[in-house]
Amino acid sequence: MGYQAKFRVWRGAGRPDETITATEADGALHDYEVEVNEGEVVLDVIHRLQQTQTPDLAVRWNCKAGKCGSCSAEVNGKPRLMCMTRMSTFDEAETVTVTPIRTFPLIRDLVTDVSYNYEKAREMPAFAPPPGVEPGEYRMQQVDVERSQEFRKCIECFLCQNTCHVVRDHEENKPEFSGPRLFIRAAELDMHPLDDRADRKEFAQAEQGIGYCNITKCCSEVCPEHIHITDNAIIPMKERVVDRKYDPITWLGSKIGRRKS
Ligand code: SF4
Ligand code: SF4
Ligand code: FES
Repeated sequence: MGYQAKFRVWRGAGRPDETITATEADGALHDYEVEVNEGEVVLDVIHRLQQTQTPDLAVRWNCKAGKCGSCSAEVNGKPRLMCMTRMSTFDEAETVTVTPIRTFPLIRDLVTDVSYNYEKAREMPAFAPPPGVEPGEYRMQQVDVERSQEFRKCIECFLCQNTCHVVRDHEENKPEFSGPRLFIRAAELDMHPLDDRADRKEFAQAEQGIGYCNITKCCSEVCPEHIHITDNAIIPMKERVVDRKYDPITWLGSKIGRRKS
């Protein structure tokens, strides 16, 4: 049975921020009543709103199957994929508030500029196979890739980046901090059996700002692919960085190795 849901949606190019009084021109929350049918998700309702009442509503989406990572938003304040958020999880009388993800510059309505993530991805040194091994000659066993395979599930929705308190509301940390999505990429390459770069951990420490992370696990909690970002990527990367920097045996080994050479 269908019903009329109460929706409150951010409209405009200004930021939804309690500390700034947004003018109507900058942006504001607008109230709507929209039809909802059985089995629908938040994105269906946003599309119906766009079709019937607000044809200029800006919303980014692509697959409607939880796989392209485009439809990230905050639904009742929680970072979610709109296409994977069922309307049946809300009470029919409840107002469903949809706002853009917060950590990135707002373009308009529900669409943000997520370039920060791609800029950080470009800074990451690429996969480097051992010398003399050409594409087509890579040989790996399943057991070699089991640990890092989890990280390949990432759909680049950037909900983890949006949630991380290091950059959420802290624009000043962005130059030094790549964020959880890029930490799993670093861990994936670090665990790759054929990646020949030995400096992934140092890079994570020196260039990606992994030291800012205080393993609160907020990123893991919002990941729609249920990637164990903190436990399986960040903590092992941090442990290895600490090992290399402070472990006395590693330190002694590196000194002896250096003298010999
Ligand atoms: S665990 Fe680290 S990367 Fe993840 S949200 Fe917390 S501070 Fe950010
Ligand atoms: S790690 Fe998870 S939350 Fe982060 S971008 Fe990938 S899929 Fe999204
Ligand atoms: S539209 Fe692709 S993940 Fe939601």
